[in-house]
Amino acid sequence: MDDTLPAAPAAEAPWLAGLNPPQREAVETLDGPLLVLSGAGTGKTRVLTARLALLLAMKRAWPSQILAVTFTNRAANEMRERVEALIGEMSAGLWLGTFHALGLRILRRHPELADLRPSFSILDPDDQERLLKQVLADANVDAKHWPARQLSAIVQRWKDKGWRPDQVPTHEAGNFANGRAPALYEAYQERLADLNAVDFGDLLLHNLTIFQRDAEVLAQYQERFRYIL
Ligand SMILES: Nc1ncnc2c1ncn2[C@@H]1O[C@H](COP(=O)(O)OP(=O)(O)OP(=O)(O)O)[C@@H](O)[C@H]1O
Ligand SMILES: [Mg+2]
Repeated sequence: MDDTLPAAPAAEAPWLAGLNPPQREAVETLDGPLLVLSGAGTGKTRVLTARLALLLAMKRAWPSQILAVTFTNRAANEMRERVEALIGEMSAGLWLGTFHALGLRILRRHPELADLRPSFSILDPDDQERLLKQVLADANVDAKHWPARQLSAIVQRWKDKGWRPDQVPTHEAGNFANGRAPALYEAYQERLADLNAVDFGDLLLHNLTIFQRDAEVLAQYQERFRYIL
């Protein structure tokens, strides 16, 4: 690995090559919060990637101290490929991935804080729906009238809001199964716990639980990540 990179004049650095002036400004603004607004296909991923490369080249942080989050797998793969091309093997230690992939990575490190055993499994949406059907059957709810798929969407929405079953506000219960959705959600989470399993929404929700439960673990991550992209 080349330890002399920071000495190279900025204009020659490969990660700055070909950027237009606003992109360059965004890439070179390394301190404090930064918001970049731009349309589809206008070079956001390119800016993020160059910024990552610059942070590493300037030794502002080790790869393991940078958290880079994307919405889609496609964007995560694209970024990893581009960063690899720019800085090589150093990129291996980056925490780069989708919200869900990074959520899983953290959950794998602290399963006990979410009441899981280390070997926990992840249900895909089909498994999830099958389990919800069982929950509906056990509660004598007519799944023809109240489809599992609809309950799945409700549960997903609540998880995205960070609500565990006991945190769903009463006025949010809705019409599903005549207002029984919160109780069904609770039963579903109990089944998941029995199975030592999580669904996609839990990958985020359990992270929230971990950080709310254990201030030390929270502080550990707060100190670890010097840059979040
Ligand atoms: N300054 C530039 N000069 C030339 N080409 C550029 C420049 N910036 C970006 N590009 C190219 O434009 C294309 C889109 O860039 P990029 O993927 O970074 O955009 P994006 O905003 O992330 O797109 P999306 O909205 O699809 O996520 C890529 O092929 C990229 O290499
Ligand atoms: Mg992009």
